[in-house]
Amino acid sequence: MATKYDITSAYRLKSGYEIPILGFGVYKTPVDECKECVLKALEVGYRHIDSAAAYFNEQACGDAIRASGIPRDKIFITTKVHPKSQGYEKAKKSIEDSLKLSGLDYFDLILIHAPYGSREERLGSWRALVEAQQAGKVRSLGVSNYGVHHLDELKEYIQTSKLPGIDVGQWELHPWLGRKDIVDWCRANDVVVQAYCPIVRAKRNDDPVVAKLVDKYKKTPAQILLRWSVQMGFIPLPKSVTPSRIEENARFFDFELSKEDMDLLTTDEYSPVAWDPTTDTQV
Ligand SMILES: NC(=O)c1ccc[n+]([C@@H]2O[C@H](COP(=O)([O-])OP(=O)(O)OC[C@H]3O[C@@H](n4cnc5c(N)ncnc54)[C@H](OP(=O)(O)O)[C@@H]3O)[C@@H](O)[C@H]2O)c1
Repeated sequence: MATKYDITSAYRLKSGYEIPILGFGVYKTPVDECKECVLKALEVGYRHIDSAAAYFNEQACGDAIRASGIPRDKIFITTKVHPKSQGYEKAKKSIEDSLKLSGLDYFDLILIHAPYGSREERLGSWRALVEAQQAGKVRSLGVSNYGVHHLDELKEYIQTSKLPGIDVGQWELHPWLGRKDIVDWCRANDVVVQAYCPIVRAKRNDDPVVAKLVDKYKKTPAQILLRWSVQMGFIPLPKSVTPSRIEENARFFDFELSKEDMDLLTTDEYSPVAWDPTTDTQV
């Protein structure tokens, strides 16, 4: 069945660059397996890697990109400022360390990993990101795990200081964690949304609605959840160290969930499986 998206689909960001609709996550991917996992992902068609300073495998990601033979500008790689590196000077160092470790000339996207720290520190981190962008070290900028109050704070700073805006935001998002307030904010402010834990770390595979849709569409639970994510307009970032699953998680572009089935899957639960710094209130 022809569907609206395929693995080569991309969204256009405010920065003018494109971001592929499917990303490959490497959180908890052991450093000695990471290069092979990223190479496998690139082999089966992913062109977007989600790394972070805090994952301690940026070097392996850089090695895989170089070993893949794929031109650098055909691969989109993200890193994130370490959550303990909030503030102008520390964020600047985190960015420099990531570039050095990965051996890359630039990142496609750098996110502030979490809104921890004071207002001054959060805005200082943004200033460091903007300077890196102006120096050609990163193409697009964003945040992760920001609550609406953090997003409003940053928006005001960006507007009053006439700085480049937020291209991308990343949160835990799946049918049991919809974050309507944050997603609505992003839609209203032209921020592309990435979904982490898109397959809920495989903890909902036995959910009765998932099981029903598995049966109906003849797809795996992961494929149903990834399809839901893309049809919600998110960019899912599934992680796996298992070659067959890396491939399975990239093969959900040949079917479409009906509107009724999208609604059936969507809940108003608040059930994170990872951390949730969005509620951090330090100012
Ligand atoms: N910004 C943030 O704060 C933040 C936080 C968490 C995650 N992330 C990003 O989002 C990515 C994904 O999140 P995540 O790794 O926490 O969760 P996830 O992708 O929802 O789940 C990964 C887990 O599911 C298993 N799995 C993968 N594919 C499967 C399949 N087809 N069938 C059954 N099990 C499968 C994996 O096992 P195997 O690996 O053993 O195959 C792993 O245990 C991360 O790698 C990271 O890049 C960002």
